Amino acid sequence: MKITIIGAGYVGIVSGTCLSEFGHEVVCVDNDAAKIATLCQGQIPIYEPGLADLVAKNVSGGRLRFTTDLSEAVPRAEAVFIAVGTPSTRRGDGYADLSYIYAAVKELAPYLAGYTVVVDKSTVPIGTARQVSRIIRETNPTADFDVASNPEFLREGAAIGDFMRPDRVVIGVENERAAAVLREIYSPLYLIETPIVVTGIETAELIKYAANAFLAVKISFINEMANICEAVGADAIALAKAIGLDGRIGKKFLHPGPGYGGSCFPKDTVALLRTVQEYGVSARIVESAVEANAAQKARMVKKIRDAVGGSEAGKIIGVLGLTFKPETDDMREAPALTILPALMEKGARIIAHDPQGMKEAAKYLPEGITYVDNPYEVFTGADAIILLTEWNQYRALDLKEVMGRMKSPVFVDLRNVYEPNRLREMGFVYFGNGRG
Ligand code: NAD
Ligand code: UGA
Repeated sequence: MKITIIGAGYVGIVSGTCLSEFGHEVVCVDNDAAKIATLCQGQIPIYEPGLADLVAKNVSGGRLRFTTDLSEAVPRAEAVFIAVGTPSTRRGDGYADLSYIYAAVKELAPYLAGYTVVVDKSTVPIGTARQVSRIIRETNPTADFDVASNPEFLREGAAIGDFMRPDRVVIGVENERAAAVLREIYSPLYLIETPIVVTGIETAELIKYAANAFLAVKISFINEMANICEAVGADAIALAKAIGLDGRIGKKFLHPGPGYGGSCFPKDTVALLRTVQEYGVSARIVESAVEANAAQKARMVKKIRDAVGGSEAGKIIGVLGLTFKPETDDMREAPALTILPALMEKGARIIAHDPQGMKEAAKYLPEGITYVDNPYEVFTGADAIILLTEWNQYRALDLKEVMGRMKSPVFVDLRNVYEPNRLREMGFVYFGNGRG
């Protein structure tokens, strides 16, 4: 099928590339001319494992290309996917900023030709697809189109696998004609028996928020359990394993950490709360998960302060990992953005390493951080080390070398990568997360 994707970000490039890998003819459009120029030169503007090779393969196969020109990309398409950003508004009220969606729709509407399904792939609040439909009708009254909602569940760092082998595909439509187009697009998943859930549009829009909110609740739950473990002298890893073995609970997303970050859980949970408010209902569990997440980040600052003897002033703190999770360069809402400035404000000096995220991190973190290319340099003269993001390359550090370089061997492992007893036996003053 002929597909056009509007927005060549994390979701747009991955979706477009994977759909072309399915055999569809895909054009990705972005209004950022520099980004499109980069893509046209065969470079990928984001770090996502496996993406560069898959893009190259499908570009050379003639199934994938990139452009800024809607006038040629839209008329050809049987389906136009909208994958532009929906960040929180700059007002800071937590509502999703839909201006990028509405602008993209106004721009594409005049070029619709022949029957086209306009699909919201971005995460959007209830009612957005109806607004999209209204804008198209106003802008191009003769357009033959349907709108649909097809939320995306991929995770950064595992995006290609998630897209090519999803747990499910959700299709929100108003009629069978639109459903048929989307079923056809996802028909290559027939072989791996992927469940296709077809619903009304509002249900599909809400499914996306419900899924992210549930996962955020699960993380906040295990973080609170980890905090209780620390207080009572219990072990959160054993606890998570034991409760996770119950099939009704499940073992995934039960890893205590410094609080969830990223471009989605933080903004989507709060946007859901705003929607809920508008409709006069409540979502107290999600509200608590959001509060618990903010408290978790603050708690990490105190944990580090306590680990360095009660005051960060004048201390050199080495930081391993800056991105909100491994295998991405995305710094959006990364816990580092809350934790490191708080430590620096109290006089800590930060030396940091991240395998992919240092360039992005430098845009958002205060000046004065020393970024190093060799992870071992963060240990040199350090009063403490914080393991903030569990990149694989931090899992098998040469601990003797680490110990030899540090001024004081305080190891704050916020992701529980290391075995506490082993490090303590080696002479580290080790703090895990929930390992009382
Ligand atoms: P992003 O910020 O990485 O990319 C958005 C892209 O849209 C940018 O390249 C921007 O230049 C482009 N854009 C904006 N307005 C445009 C316009 N009018 N015309 C053409 N291009 C335009 O965003 P993202 O992380 O890919 O997220 C996109 C959406 O998908 C969001 O709603 C997000 O919540 C959702 N989502 C993201 C992920 C993820 O892992 N990042 C996963 C699932 C869903
Ligand atoms: C998340 C969802 O997992 C995707 O299904 C969804 O499509 C996406 O949001 C989205 O809507 O954009 P992502 O943000 O890429 O994906 O990353 P996750 O792997 O979910 O991690 C999010 C945050 O939770 C990270 O900061 C991670 O460190 C944290 N986390 C995750 C934990 O602290 N503990 C866990 O057990 C799992």
